Amino acid sequence: MDDLWTIGGGRKPVIALGVSGSIAAYKSAELVGKLTRAGAEVRVLMTANACRLVAPATFSTLSRHPVVDSLWDTGRWQPEHVELAELADLLVIAPATANIIGKLAHGIADDALSTFALSFDGSVIIAPAMNPRMWAHPAVVENCAILRRRGVRIVGPEPGRVACGDLEGAGRMSEPVLIGNAALAAWQLHSAPVPGQPRRRIVVTAGPTREELDPVRFLSNRSSGRMGYALAECAAAAGHQVVLISGSTELPVPAGCTMIPAVTAAEMAVAVKQEFAAADLLIMAAAVADFRPAERAGQKLRKQTGSQAPQLQLAWTEDILASLAADKRSSRTVVGFAAETEDLVANARRKLGNKKLDWLVANQVGCPGVGFDSSDNEVVVFAADGRSTAIPKAGKLEVAAKILELVMNVGNEP
Ligand code: CTP
Repeated sequence: MDDLWTIGGGRKPVIALGVSGSIAAYKSAELVGKLTRAGAEVRVLMTANACRLVAPATFSTLSRHPVVDSLWDTGRWQPEHVELAELADLLVIAPATANIIGKLAHGIADDALSTFALSFDGSVIIAPAMNPRMWAHPAVVENCAILRRRGVRIVGPEPGRVACGDLEGAGRMSEPVLIGNAALAAWQLHSAPVPGQPRRRIVVTAGPTREELDPVRFLSNRSSGRMGYALAECAAAAGHQVVLISGSTELPVPAGCTMIPAVTAAEMAVAVKQEFAAADLLIMAAAVADFRPAERAGQKLRKQTGSQAPQLQLAWTEDILASLAADKRSSRTVVGFAAETEDLVANARRKLGNKKLDWLVANQVGCPGVGFDSSDNEVVVFAADGRSTAIPKAGKLEVAAKILELVMNVGNEP
């Protein structure tokens, strides 16, 4: 899909787009076109090196605003970067070179873009583009870690051939559609909740369950929990009351969420049933085990040389969603997830019907770059009335924002 998501009603975002000196700067012209077509107002700031690669007139024509490329000779009493810092909702730097990343991380302000970045206190997204060796350099890795800790969202870079030679490895700037959707999702996430929209109580489950075999071994799966955590983060940022029921993950609890740990499928069943009682919306993104060892050994199972290897006896776990479907009130929305390795559409529709869900979010797992263990995802959302909506590949936070938009809008209908 080539077009950006559309921005719903209300005020449109003003996006400051910083363009720094990488050859990928030409792709940013396409990004300006996409963002303006999606309804955003774009104000471009360029570094001196970017101006040598792409003429500022390209950006001023596409954005319909003058490009800010100098701290001097602006003919105004108030510096343009200060004026723009008050006006902009979001800063997107694409492409972001190692140089501008270093300046952002260390607070260096020596040109219009870096000075603007320091005077801007809103959300920042960067789309790095550089030679793969530079991207892997410890200085760049550490600078990016500093930025991530400050909440800067880093989109890409992608693996593949880069312009400076036939070096393979991550370094190519992400496609404009991915960067643009990240910007629109950040706007959706940080813009105030729609006036009059009720604050809802949302329960999200996330991560894998662990089914113990003995005190040191367990059966589990490859779920990282990132999709569920992204949903919880988005919902809390939009002002809703969020309870996150989580299997074992390494992830920090998103701001504004209450987290209930649930290690096994049985513990998750207890927590979900308890929280569902008061919930308006349940999103079961957790990868709950379908079976567990029939018995848990009290002590570590020991190797007995010469005897037959132990045979694993399994027992089914309770299907939490299916149990809830039985006493679901119509005012509650229930969203299931399905990770499929084959026949995605048929399996998704079967689960939606069998578990009496309102929505089912299906993703194909086993493909590189999306799903388990990945920061990106690509899903199809099936509705109980037969409609389906494909959400193209994007960061999990952006996919989460899109899923919530779908399932919450219907939830808001009278
Ligand atoms: N789920 C659940 N309880 C379980 C297993 C799964 O509530 N014991 C939920 C998951 O959280 C997910 C949905 O059911 O939202 C679908 O899970 P999945 O494992 O894909 O489906 P299954 O029903 O287990 O079907 P299959 O094994 O055929 O894939």
